[in-house]
Amino acid sequence: MFDSKTRTVVIVGAQWGDEGKGKLVDVLAERADWVVRYQGGANAGHTVHIGDDSFVLHQIPSGILHPGVRCAIGNGVVLDPETLFTEIDELVGDGIDVEGRLYVSDRAHLVMPYHKLVDKESQASRAIGTTGRGIGPAYEDKAGRRGIRVVDLKHPERLQELVERGCEYANMRLARFGTAQRASAAETLEALGRVSDRLLALADDLGVLLHRAMKRGASVLMEGAQGSLLDVDHGTYPFVTSSSTTVGGAAIGAGIAPTAIHAALGIVKAYTTRVGNGPLPTELDAVLGDRVRRLGNEFGATTGRPRRCGWFDAVVVRYAARVNGLTGLAVTKLDVLDTLERVALCTGYRRGDDVLEEFPADIAALESLEPVYEWMDGWQVPTGDARTIADLPPAARAYLDRLESLVDTSIRYVSVGTRRDQIIDVGATA
Ligand code: GDP
Ligand code: IMO
Ligand code: MG
Repeated sequence: MFDSKTRTVVIVGAQWGDEGKGKLVDVLAERADWVVRYQGGANAGHTVHIGDDSFVLHQIPSGILHPGVRCAIGNGVVLDPETLFTEIDELVGDGIDVEGRLYVSDRAHLVMPYHKLVDKESQASRAIGTTGRGIGPAYEDKAGRRGIRVVDLKHPERLQELVERGCEYANMRLARFGTAQRASAAETLEALGRVSDRLLALADDLGVLLHRAMKRGASVLMEGAQGSLLDVDHGTYPFVTSSSTTVGGAAIGAGIAPTAIHAALGIVKAYTTRVGNGPLPTELDAVLGDRVRRLGNEFGATTGRPRRCGWFDAVVVRYAARVNGLTGLAVTKLDVLDTLERVALCTGYRRGDDVLEEFPADIAALESLEPVYEWMDGWQVPTGDARTIADLPPAARAYLDRLESLVDTSIRYVSVGTRRDQIIDVGATA
């Protein structure tokens, strides 16, 4: 991905999350000096398999598994300090050296215990099917100018005032939900006290660090979380997360200039999944859905929930390609389709005689639309050992060619298994 002109690359999910961003970041981090998370928080679950070990990263960038790569959590992330240190300690326990190369933006907002409480007790969160990690309430406080940032930990009096205000607001909401649960300012401050010094030791002005690194020619990988259809502006609102998951969010959430971004790699599964509620136009019927879920092991990396499965939706990915300005695609989990007799690509949505080719703003409109499918033969050959496009069976190549032309974005990588080596670099083998 990196060359003399391409130094800053954004990795972004181009569907509804869980596309395999963690795996791609891990593969590409080998050549990166920095890997930066720029939005979301512990709602993310990015899985990386190395040998027999598997790691699920929630807040720490997936680049951490490569020794020497500097990893950072940007200002756009809502950071849960409690689970951050659990994650660090687990990695250290597995022999991964973390401290000394992990940086946290001093402008990042903190997810407080009361954010998680509000998220868990809220009927509205349940209707969306959130991860319960306090993401929505933390971003609400950020936008409502009640948020608490890493830098506030340096000022005990200010912190106390902010925590009291935050608890008061959370308790007002909890009372309205009709629950007896309440947040306690004293307990919140105590919990913060336990992690404060350790967190401040990681804190820095990340925008400045990245600016200086980029000026020296460093290669920077920006690791998106969630997916484009979960973006608060461009996703299937209101069934979305609360951050800008698309490439625009990378500049804002890392504190770098939009013009400093040189490439955007969109990660897509060879089919579609979604965890949580909201529209999934190409959702499979129960029998086939169950089969693909088992083949792809489609259970959430954060909550363990079964993921809903659907055919590849080219309307969705073409939309994501436009909104993100994708310069390439990585198609993951091709191997999951290996045993299917036939496969389908959704090319548009039909209403009566009209075929809609652009993803609508109003998700209610999706209810009256029927996906239009193009059916193709399955390849029914294992693809896990393919390392070049030429190694793939002709039917799999035909499927990828059609997908590429429907999305109008070139495929740069094809992933054919969970392992690091199970990847085809199309650029290298073209
Ligand atoms: P992320 O949130 O985008 O990082 O994706 P997740 O880690 O939540 O989910 C992707 C899952 O698919 C993980 O369990 C990965 O190990 C797995 N995975 C990634 N690429 C491939 C692939 O090419 N084939 C198969 N079979 N599994 C893959
Ligand atoms: P990664 O980074 C898939 C979904 C939740 C819910 C909605 C809002 O692993 O791809 P939130 O807790 O963010 O307020 O929930 O977004 N969601 C994800 N779905 N992958 C994720 O992250 C997700 N993070 C949040 O299921 O529908
Ligand atoms: Mg995930």
